[in-house]
Amino acid sequence: MTSNRRLKSYNMKEIKIGLLGCGQVGGGLIQLLKRQADFIRQRTGITLTIDRILVRDISKPRGVPGGLLTTNPDEVIYNLETDIIVELLGGLEPARRLILKSLSAGKHIITANKAVLAVHGEEIMRTAQENKRQVYYEASVCAGVPIIRSIKEGLLANRISSIQGILNGTTNYILTKMADDENKSFADALREAKESGFAEPDPTLDIEGIDTAHKLAVLSSLAFGIPSVFKSIYIEGITEITQEDIKNARDFGFLIKLVAIAKKLPDNWIELRVHPSMLPEKHPLTSVRNEFNAVLIHGDAVGEIMFYGKGAGPITTASALLSDIIELSTKISTHQLKMENLYWGKRRILPIEKTNVEYYIRFPIIDKPGVIGKITTILGKYNVSISGANAILVPGKKSQGYLPGSVYVITERTAEKRIRQALAQISKLPVMRDKPFMIRIEREY
Ligand code: HSE
Repeated sequence: MTSNRRLKSYNMKEIKIGLLGCGQVGGGLIQLLKRQADFIRQRTGITLTIDRILVRDISKPRGVPGGLLTTNPDEVIYNLETDIIVELLGGLEPARRLILKSLSAGKHIITANKAVLAVHGEEIMRTAQENKRQVYYEASVCAGVPIIRSIKEGLLANRISSIQGILNGTTNYILTKMADDENKSFADALREAKESGFAEPDPTLDIEGIDTAHKLAVLSSLAFGIPSVFKSIYIEGITEITQEDIKNARDFGFLIKLVAIAKKLPDNWIELRVHPSMLPEKHPLTSVRNEFNAVLIHGDAVGEIMFYGKGAGPITTASALLSDIIELSTKISTHQLKMENLYWGKRRILPIEKTNVEYYIRFPIIDKPGVIGKITTILGKYNVSISGANAILVPGKKSQGYLPGSVYVITERTAEKRIRQALAQISKLPVMRDKPFMIRIEREY
């Protein structure tokens, strides 16, 4: 009898939610919540209701009663009816301030904001612990792909030694389109990504690799048990990749992707890098196309495991947000909230100069006699061995009476410091018509 009563009251549980921000993702969440409301009630016994929404413009229609909208964040944060606040403002401020305020007001937080977690994650997690509140962030990395929950729960029995991922839909879309169609320019592909709603409001965050680094910071913090390492991540974007590089990559048997890499090395060293990488055609990440994301993880018990799915878009992101809302609501209604030990790992971040991989290098030259010899002599001086090479003349205006051309080189594995020293010296040669450009080759996974 007692247990029946308890079951009855659990079945009737209603959880009210406040939203901070209601742009494209917020709209997706409202839509998905409406679509799945009955299904969620059937599965969990919980009714989810949006109770108050912070917006900039109250007059804009959002598919909810106008009375729910407010321009005052305090009306969302201090609403006594709500247990959970979903932060969808994006960016650092005011998101950080409002998250901290919500936690201090006794609310649980769900966020899709990778930037605020990457930069202020420690402060947010500490404030959550002090207030015995939870922060859920499945939507912050790879949108609908349940990578956070998989690391937190499914891979709990593993020591994770490496993560390799394509974590940004926009740049993967651009690189895919440029590889598929040699007439497609970078600018055209970026415009299409913007129109499809994948790109950040400021797309330089995508193309400069910063969005990928935010996500890598979130993943590596979780997988290695270390506070956010965003500031220590080496970051290069895709803006200097040309059709020439994409074609050469193919000729040498590679595909270019923007890859996030976190790797544990002996003595607590960790490699953390985001940059364009040439991947051999058989590498699992080469099959990840368009706006899709993938994360390849190595765990000591499970071995290789790969997660794959759409990494951007309002409804896919809403899928992750709603899964967090459902899980948190279930825990609230069954009194199962627990605090975690967030940081247990040790770390020393490896400087990029100590990275040791193979390199593709493009040397823009003028085709004077002896040019290849001059380049290879300097590479040899710095102990850089060459495993493959190619050279072409580029149709164009003569410079100093000579045709422009390019020399392409693939090196053996080399410490990056030596490559950098060699390229600095080669840049000064009078036969160079522009600075050399290199892409790291990642064969391991
Ligand atoms: N701009 C991001 C991307 C959106 O392209 O992946 C999802 O985080």
